[in-house]
Amino acid sequence: MKCDVAIVGAGPSGLILAHLLRQAGLEPVVLERRSKDYVLSRIRAGVLEKTTTNLLERLNLADRMHAEGLVHEGFHLADGEKLIRIDLAELTGSSVMVYGQSEVQRDLIDAIPARGVEVVWEADDVALHDVDSDAPRITYSKNGTSHTLEARFIAGCDGFHGPCRKAIPETVGVTHERVYPFGWLGILADVPPCDDELIYANHANGFALASMRSATRSRYYIQAPVDTNLDEWPDERIWDELAVRLGPEAGGRITRGASIEKSIAPLRSFVFEPMRHGSLFLAGDSAHIVPPTGAKGLNLAASDVTYLSDALIAWFKQGDQNALDGYSSRALARIWKSERFSWYLTSLMHQFPEHSSFEREMQRAELDYIANSRAARESIAENYIGLPL
Ligand code: APR
Ligand code: PHB
Repeated sequence: MKCDVAIVGAGPSGLILAHLLRQAGLEPVVLERRSKDYVLSRIRAGVLEKTTTNLLERLNLADRMHAEGLVHEGFHLADGEKLIRIDLAELTGSSVMVYGQSEVQRDLIDAIPARGVEVVWEADDVALHDVDSDAPRITYSKNGTSHTLEARFIAGCDGFHGPCRKAIPETVGVTHERVYPFGWLGILADVPPCDDELIYANHANGFALASMRSATRSRYYIQAPVDTNLDEWPDERIWDELAVRLGPEAGGRITRGASIEKSIAPLRSFVFEPMRHGSLFLAGDSAHIVPPTGAKGLNLAASDVTYLSDALIAWFKQGDQNALDGYSSRALARIWKSERFSWYLTSLMHQFPEHSSFEREMQRAELDYIANSRAARESIAENYIGLPL
C-alpha cells in the first residue's frame, strides 16, 4: 500500500492531522494499535483553547461541540479558604470551551467514512524503516498478516509510549524531563458540578480540581502518591477529601454520587527535540508531555498538527521545503511556553514532599498577589485561553 503521509496513532493528533490533509486533497493513512472502541473510551482533560475550537470549525467538525460544549468565561484558583476568580472574558476578551477529549475523539472518528480517511485499527507490530531517506516505510501486521505501507512522509502521532520517537537515533535528539513526585487521582460521576466554573485548589492536604463534562457529569481530581492503591480510596473518602481541599464555599456545594470511573495518573513535563528526523515528523504526546494542570495537552497536539499540516501541504502543493524545515522550531516555540505555564500552575498549586515552610510561604504569597493584582491575573488568563499560533 502507498500513501502521501503515513500517520502512526489515531489519537487527537493523528486524526486531526489526517482530516486536515484530506481536506487539502492529500492521501494519508492512519495506523492505530488499539481498537476504535478502546480509543473512544479513554477519558482525558477537556478544556479547549480558541485556536483548537477554530481548528475544529475549519474542519466542519464543531457542530456537536457548539451544541453540547460549555463556554467558560472564567475559572477559579482556591487557596484553601477563598476562591480567586480569573475572569477570562474581562481580562482577555476571550473564553475556553469545556468539551471532553472523548467527545472530540468521537467527532473525529465519526467523520472518517464521509471524509474518506483511511484508518487501520488494531495494527500490530508497527515498525518504521528508512526514516532518514525520501522513501520511508512502515511494516505492521493485522489479524496475523504482514503488510508494508510506503509513504513520502511519516507523522509520529503515537503518544508518549509509541515507536516513532524511538526511531530517531539517540545521538540526534535531546530530552528534557521533569517527573513530579505525585499523581492525580481522578473520579467521574453523574452528579451536577459544585460550581459553574473549574476550581484549581491549593490545600495543605494537597491539590484538588473540580471540573465537569456537562451540567450533570462532574470530573474531580485530588493529588495523591503515584503508587496509591485505589482500593484504599472508596468514593466516600474521595468526596470527604474534596470537600476539605476545595475550601468551605465550593466544598460545601459538592453533590456526591457513585463513581463511574476512578484512576490515578502520573504527572510529567517532557520535551524531545528536534521534532523531525529526515522524513519523520513528531506531533503531540510523542514529542512532549505536560502535567494536566491547565489542560494544555490536547491543545498543544492541535497546534502541532496545524503547523505540520501547513508545512506538508506546502510541500505537496508548491514543492516548498522551507515550511517543513521550520516545523520543529515553529512548534517548539509554542510548546515551551505551554510547558512553562503547565509547570508554573503545577508548582503553584501542589504540595511537594521536598518543600519547606519557605516554599509553602512562596505559594501563599503568590496566590495573595494573584488575588490582588490584575496584572498577575491577566498573565494567567492569557496563558489559560491559549497563546496565539
Ligand atoms: N502503533 C500504532 N499506534 C500506536 C502505537 C503503535 N505502536 N503506540 C501508540 N499508538 C497510538 C495509541 O494507541 C494512541 O491511540 O497512538 C495514539 C496516541 O494518542 P494520544 O496518546 O492521545 O496522543 P496524541 O494524539 O498526541 O494526543 C495528545 O491527547 O492523549 C492526550 O494527554 C494527551 O491531551 C493530550 C493529547
Ligand atoms: C478535566 O476536566 O479532566 C480537566 C480539566 C482541567 C484540567 C485538567 C483536567 O486542567
